[in-house]
Amino acid sequence: MIKFLDLKKVNQPFETAFKQKMEQFLEGGWYILGSEVKLFEENFAQYCGAKHCIGVGNGLDALVLIFKAYIQVGKLQKGDEVIVPSNTYIATILAVLGADLVPVLVEPKLETFNINSDLIEEKISDKTKAILPVHLYGQLAEMEEIQSIAEKHNLLVIEDAAQAHGAIGIGNQNMRAYSFYPGKNLGALGDAGAITTNDDALAEVLFSLRNYGSKVKYENEIIGVNSRLDELQAAFLNVKIPELDKENQIRRKIAKRYLSEIKNNKIVLPFWDNSENHVFHLFVIRTANRNELKEYLLKNGIETMIHYPIPPHKQKALKNWNCLSFPIAEKIHDEVLSIPLNGALNQIEIDRIITTLNNY
Ligand SMILES: Cc1ncc(COP(=O)(O)O)c(C=O)c1O
Repeated sequence: MIKFLDLKKVNQPFETAFKQKMEQFLEGGWYILGSEVKLFEENFAQYCGAKHCIGVGNGLDALVLIFKAYIQVGKLQKGDEVIVPSNTYIATILAVLGADLVPVLVEPKLETFNINSDLIEEKISDKTKAILPVHLYGQLAEMEEIQSIAEKHNLLVIEDAAQAHGAIGIGNQNMRAYSFYPGKNLGALGDAGAITTNDDALAEVLFSLRNYGSKVKYENEIIGVNSRLDELQAAFLNVKIPELDKENQIRRKIAKRYLSEIKNNKIVLPFWDNSENHVFHLFVIRTANRNELKEYLLKNGIETMIHYPIPPHKQKALKNWNCLSFPIAEKIHDEVLSIPLNGALNQIEIDRIITTLNNY
């Protein structure tokens, strides 16, 4: 069976280094916000070309804390509207709600799965204060267009880069949220997340917010939370960062093979402009009878996943929105299937995935 993602295999090359880190960790006896978190924040800021990196508990918290920081400095207020894509993982929308802001959904482009920048302006009202594009499946959203709409209407831009570590083509003028959930291109061995920014004042607020609103122990200046990047996860991430570009390159190479060798008129392949703006966190195909294809692949020993089966506005958790209609997002959720793509796959497995899809 070709697993969708074999995390044991993904992490195997790092095991010796992880064990060394674990030994140092036990030896050191410092468990919270220690030298590994500090080193990771330096490493990841440098990797992203950003001035600051703030390590936090997970990707959802990274987004919520960005909004809370903007509220803290008076750039956002409770009840302000934030433009978000209707096609995303629900965390994006939960983050907006979690900061007492109002998500306003905008349809994606069917080809890229990302927010359709042509449809943003018609959703802007007096209450709109921010745009939250998601670089879904690892491909950058239309950042130039989004940036110019934001400038024209004086809006903040907060990027959900949870799936797009290392995607190239955007500047660092915005706030960016990352997740290091184990399955990500840069994955921890548990939950972890980070924020990158060039804004000194906001970085200072964020460092405090993630740690009970405190800079000096037991002195609390603002109402914060406990969402610190775990010291041990930071140590593991420090081991993996140097290999991230290589992993992304391997993913692009496999994607190139899939895009040129999968030939089946029942399958729509994802759009990619061949630039480094895509890190292929996921390779997502579309087909009219998705469940049938999933079943066929499973019978042929290939595990797949669906990202995602139910759009956020149709989730029970958001029942006030269940009556809304976002036909493109709904079509995407009905038709998508993610096939295995990661650095742990070997050539025989890649060949088999291609052949099996072509024989469908
Ligand atoms: C697009 C997107 N945003 C946010 C998140 C939240 O990240 P986490 O699971 O680390 O909280 C995820 C995570 O899986 C994601 O895919």
